[in-house]
Amino acid sequence: MSEQDVGSDFVVVANRLPVDMVTGEDGEPEWRRSPGGLVSALEPVLRNNSGGWVGWPGQADTDVAPFVEDGLELHPVPLDSDDYERYYEGFSNGTLWPLYHDLAVKPEYHREWWESYVDVNRRFAEATAKTAATGGTVWVQDYQLQLVPRMLRTLRPDLTIGFFLHIPFPPVELFMQLPWRRAVVEGMLGADLIGFQLPGGADNFMILARKLLGLPTSRGYIRPLARHGSITHEGRTVRVGAFPISIDSSRIDRLARSRAVRDRAAEIRRQLGDPGVIMLGVDRLDYTKGIDMRLRAIGELLEEGRLDPSDTVMVQLATPSRERVEQYAIMRRSIEEQVGRINGEYGEVGSTMVHYMHRPVGREELTAFFVAADVMLVTPLRDGMNLVAKEYVASKVRLDGALVLSEFAGAASELKQAYLVNPHDIDGVKNAMTAAVSQDRETGRRRMRALRRQVLAHDVDRWARMFLDVLRSTSAQEPQ
Ligand code: ADP
Ligand code: G6P
Repeated sequence: MSEQDVGSDFVVVANRLPVDMVTGEDGEPEWRRSPGGLVSALEPVLRNNSGGWVGWPGQADTDVAPFVEDGLELHPVPLDSDDYERYYEGFSNGTLWPLYHDLAVKPEYHREWWESYVDVNRRFAEATAKTAATGGTVWVQDYQLQLVPRMLRTLRPDLTIGFFLHIPFPPVELFMQLPWRRAVVEGMLGADLIGFQLPGGADNFMILARKLLGLPTSRGYIRPLARHGSITHEGRTVRVGAFPISIDSSRIDRLARSRAVRDRAAEIRRQLGDPGVIMLGVDRLDYTKGIDMRLRAIGELLEEGRLDPSDTVMVQLATPSRERVEQYAIMRRSIEEQVGRINGEYGEVGSTMVHYMHRPVGREELTAFFVAADVMLVTPLRDGMNLVAKEYVASKVRLDGALVLSEFAGAASELKQAYLVNPHDIDGVKNAMTAAVSQDRETGRRRMRALRRQVLAHDVDRWARMFLDVLRSTSAQEPQ
């Protein structure tokens, strides 16, 4: 029997496994949930679908045999320290991440980073080719693995291959900076279905396929979940669509209603000194998230006397992220300086204005913070979706609270009843913050009810089902 006869019918391929190997306090390796929205979203989907997950175990120079965790088959792909530096920190997070986020910082283009990206993508494709059963479905995730669909199709033409990009796909004029632009677009075109968060990203990709590769494509704008595009490439039809990702809304709703979480939320409020207003930020510490701008806005509001430091508290939870990449270190210093400055100006003995925690917290604890928070600040300069915004809404089972949300987060296209802001317009952000702080109860309830309706009806299972239905119908029409 060949390996493929015993492989998985459904395989997710992502840079990270859903769990990261970390070194525990006793020096022994432990597994912890991986950071970021991709894992938050996909983990519940995989648990409902059963299948395999191919990904890196989160530590360089570690080789781990395949294992089963909570019913999920995990297939680790090792990265050595050179791969980590060039493929992960370098090309993925020093080139593609800023290029795809509107040049939030300057992308760097280095040939040795690109070579490593190609090499690691090939190893992911090879590992997947060994893992997937004959005629199986493979779902490749995100910007780190854009070359995998084409490489995998060459190795395993029997597979149905989907690709989903979790981050924004940039306008053509930005993407054209990339010296390896053709190879990236061709890499993605190896898939049967390419999914983006928003129609804008999908339209950008369609334009590129026409202009850069001269391929025949369908015309007309793409509509989320409804109207897809198609590109003819090497005798195949590749579908392109917009599929806004979501969260396991009912799980968070249930958690927020639980006694343990409610008690913990009340305790958090007490521990913070029972302030009139708790503002909250929850982010990976990333320069795209607008954390520094949000703190600047708070600093100015305090200075102008529009926020009362004796009655307002800000909590910022920040998961450490990509810490050796220079721009992340710069951003961390700037945030920590601002926290120090605000607390120096406005803190008193026993009462701190900004509570800043640079570490991940558990799901239950995080939900308790959402339940406790009166105003949630989600202010990225650019974000593919932003699941935190949706998690906050799903936690507000009592219809209290207000969401201040950047127009430049994908979530803004669905969460229209939030206080929408342009994060580049600091006065606008300050006005939205004060409006959110002082909203009357009925207006707040009305807004939150509408937001919750959207989030509860459009959960991550629906997202996965819609993507996979289109993917499977595509391959059914076109036998290989
Ligand atoms: P990104 O994928 O860019 O990190 P998202 O907002 O889409 O942004 O997803 C972030 C995920 O990480 C969410 O599920 C959020 O709850 C989780 N998260 C963010 N910060 C923390 C934190 N400090 N502790 C625990 N989880 C966090
Ligand atoms: C975002 C990306 C994911 C990534 C996550 C965490 O959600 O879309 O692909 O896994 O951030 O980033 P990290 O670099 O720690 O994997």
